[in-house]
Formats: sequence, C-alpha cells, structure tokens
Amino acid sequence: MAFLYQLPVRTYAPMRQPAFCAARAFTAIILLYTGVFRTMKSKYPIGILGATGMVGQRFIQLLENHPWFEVAWLAASDRSSGKKFGEAANWRLGTPVPERVARMTVSAAEPKDAPKIIFASVDAPIAREMEPKFAAAGCAVISNSSAFRMAANVPLVLPEVNADHVQMIENQPWRKESGGFIVTNSNCSAMGLVLALKPMEERFGIEEIFVTTMQAVSGAGYPGVASMDIFDNVVPYIASEEEKMETETLKLLGRLEGNTVTPLAAKMSAHCNRVPVVDGHTECVSIKLGNKLGRSVRREDILAAWAEFRPLAGLDLPFAPEQPIEWAEQNDRPQPRLDRNRGNGMAVTVGRLRSCGVLDWKFTLLSHNTIRGAAGAAILNAELLASLGKLEPAAVAISQV
Ligand SMILES: NC(=O)c1ccc[n+]([C@@H]2O[C@H](COP(=O)([O-])OP(=O)(O)OC[C@H]3O[C@@H](n4cnc5c(N)ncnc54)[C@H](OP(=O)(O)O)[C@@H]3O)[C@@H](O)[C@H]2O)c1
Repeated sequence: MAFLYQLPVRTYAPMRQPAFCAARAFTAIILLYTGVFRTMKSKYPIGILGATGMVGQRFIQLLENHPWFEVAWLAASDRSSGKKFGEAANWRLGTPVPERVARMTVSAAEPKDAPKIIFASVDAPIAREMEPKFAAAGCAVISNSSAFRMAANVPLVLPEVNADHVQMIENQPWRKESGGFIVTNSNCSAMGLVLALKPMEERFGIEEIFVTTMQAVSGAGYPGVASMDIFDNVVPYIASEEEKMETETLKLLGRLEGNTVTPLAAKMSAHCNRVPVVDGHTECVSIKLGNKLGRSVRREDILAAWAEFRPLAGLDLPFAPEQPIEWAEQNDRPQPRLDRNRGNGMAVTVGRLRSCGVLDWKFTLLSHNTIRGAAGAAILNAELLASLGKLEPAAVAISQV
C-alpha cells in the first residue's frame, strides 16, 4: 500500500480504507492514468539499443503503427553505427523492414542525443556496462537482458503478474538523480511459465515446480546455434538458462515487501534444452499445489483459474492480450508452428493438463520467445509505465497522431 501513496493521485479516497483491496486500487490508478494518457495527442519517441539483433528487429516490427510509441533512434555496435539500418541489419523476420526505419542511420550506443525511453536488447555483459549510463542520463531503460533482473532494487516485471513491483524504480539512484531508471522483463522461458503459474499460485498456492523446456533457436540471437549443431538434434544445455529460470520465476511470483521482493517460497527445478524450432518455447511442467482452497484441486478448478485470469482487462494497454492464457483442447497441442502466434504472440498456450504421478498436476505450455518472451513483453512494460505516468516528464512527445 505504501506505493499507492507515492503516486500523485493522493486524493483517491478508496485507497485510504484498509479493507480496500490493493490490487483493485492499483487497477483503478492505472485506469485513471490510462484515461489521462489517452487524451494526449502525441507519441513518445523511443530508442532501441541493440536494434539490429533478433529482439531489436522484433521491436521494430511490433512498434510499426504502435499508438503510443514511435521509433526515433536506433543504436547497435561499432560494426553497425553510421550505416543505414537497412544496410546494417540482417533482417530475419517474415514481414519487410519498415521503409522509414530502413532509411534511419544507426547511432553509436551512447546516451547523448538518444530519446528518454530506451528499449534495450543487448547481451548481458554489454547491458551491465551500458544500461546504467542511459539510466544516469535520465532515460527510462526497459531492458531485455539478464544483467539487472535479479538486482535488489530493479523490478523484474510482467504486468499481468506483478505490476505493483514497478514502484521499486523510485528507490534507484538514477531515478533520484536524473529521473532515469531500469525496469527488466524476464528470461523468455520464465515468462510463459510464470503466466501459467500465476493464477494457480493465487488460487491454490504452489509448493514445487518441475519444468523441462524445448527452446527455439531464435532464443540464442542471430546467427545463434550453428546449423550443424541443431539440425537433426537436441542440445541439452543452454548456458545459465536453468539458473535464470529458477531464480526469475520465484522473483516474479514473489511479494513486494517494502522496497524488496521476497521470492515465492517454492522448490523449483528446470531442465533447459535447445531444439530445432525457429520461434516458440515449449515447456513440460509438473507442480505440487498448496492448500489455499482448503480441499483438493480439481482439473476444472485449474481450467477456470486459467480462463478467468485477465488482470489487465479494461486497462486498454495496446499490447495486453485479451486472454493471456489460452487453453488448447486437443491432445497434441500446443505446438510451436500452430500456436505461437496466439494473442498476436502475447498469449501463452496451455494444454495436456492431467494428474502427475510424482507431483500433483502436469501440463504443457508454449509461448513466443521473441514476442511475449522479449520485445512484446518490454513494450507491455512500457505501456504499463506510461499508464502510470512513469514515463513523464523525461519523455518529450514528438509526433501528432
Ligand atoms: N532472442 C530471444 O528470444 C531473447 C528473449 C529474451 C531476452 N533476450 C535477451 O535480449 C538481448 C538481445 O538478444 P538478441 O537475441 O537480440 O541478440 P542478438 O541477435 O545477438 O543481437 C545483439 C544486438 O546487440 C548489439 N550489440 C552487440 N555489441 C554491442 C555493443 N558493444 N554496443 C551496442 N550494441 C551492441 C548487436 O549489434 P550489431 O548487429 O551491430 O552487432 C545487436 O543489435 C540479450 O540480452 C538476450 O539474452 C533474447
């Protein structure tokens, strides 16, 4: 509740009543800000750091025609800076590179002349060095890398799951000094898993999680895994992936207490594998549930929890899928080729729910790793921040819509 009082809407009376549910108050505030935001007549200029990479390209594709954000600056390594984007990037997506963007010159990766909202998609060692520089220069850095995800003062946010964690930015040194901050989204496999688990944790509690992933090659960036290594093969190792899944899942499902997150107290084990799929991470999950319901959990309880999970409904965030968790009825689904684009790539598809002989329940899930698992998630985080007024006043609107 302390967070709610930090927001500028200090006279919002229901928040002062102890019985008022924090989640509903949070939703009301977002609605209020969204209403204010919708009256604006301009778009936020945004920059993409790592614009030529797999995730950077996905940002460009997804932001074409975005109602709130406009790509105004692109940066990448020295290999690319100074070149036109169309020449520097090896465009790998199935839609053409937007003409306006193809003509833009790639800038050096420095905050000077960059817009105040930065979508960052560079590898962790580079992010560790660069993201604080942009935050110190007053930028809202919305990061995809693992560099700061587990830092105690950096929110790891998935809006449907833990939107209230964004308040942690207020305690970052950059925020106090220049207005800048860093917000992160999670590892691409943790993202789909956490979406599917959140309603189960809310209704039943979760005690143990066992997950085996089958991760797409686009998750390794471009050119990624050599074709000789992945064609006709499965690679049972992705560096640091299991550790990231295990720690990030529990932070995302954790509780904000004061200014820090207490991770969910569940046991977790992840096996991560690279498979010859282009896009879409598949995960086989077994879970032991808690006793919040006071009786044993039935299959229909879980199906209802997934179907009714729409925490962002009514907020009008452009990238929020109407149904964040989609149920696939058929025995042989979800499948990457058939299901990865559900909800415009922002929904997680769940299927094959059945009882587990070791833990309580098991199921399969699928999510699009470069949309829900990366660029789309970062855009949704930016929309949440905009709705909360957290991109003001640093950002200056540029173009009339
Ligand atoms: N791919 C996924 O599914 C996924 C999902 C979630 C999170 N992520 C994370 O997102 C980040 C980017 O991943 P990716 O798959 O897009 O990687 P990628 O395809 O390898 O792209 C890396 C980008 O970083 C740029 N870069 C490299 N060195 C740089 C430097 N010194 N200064 C500035 N820019 C530099 C590259 O520019 P040049 O082209 O000029 O070299 C390129 O634009 C990583 O942290 C990754 O872990 C990826």
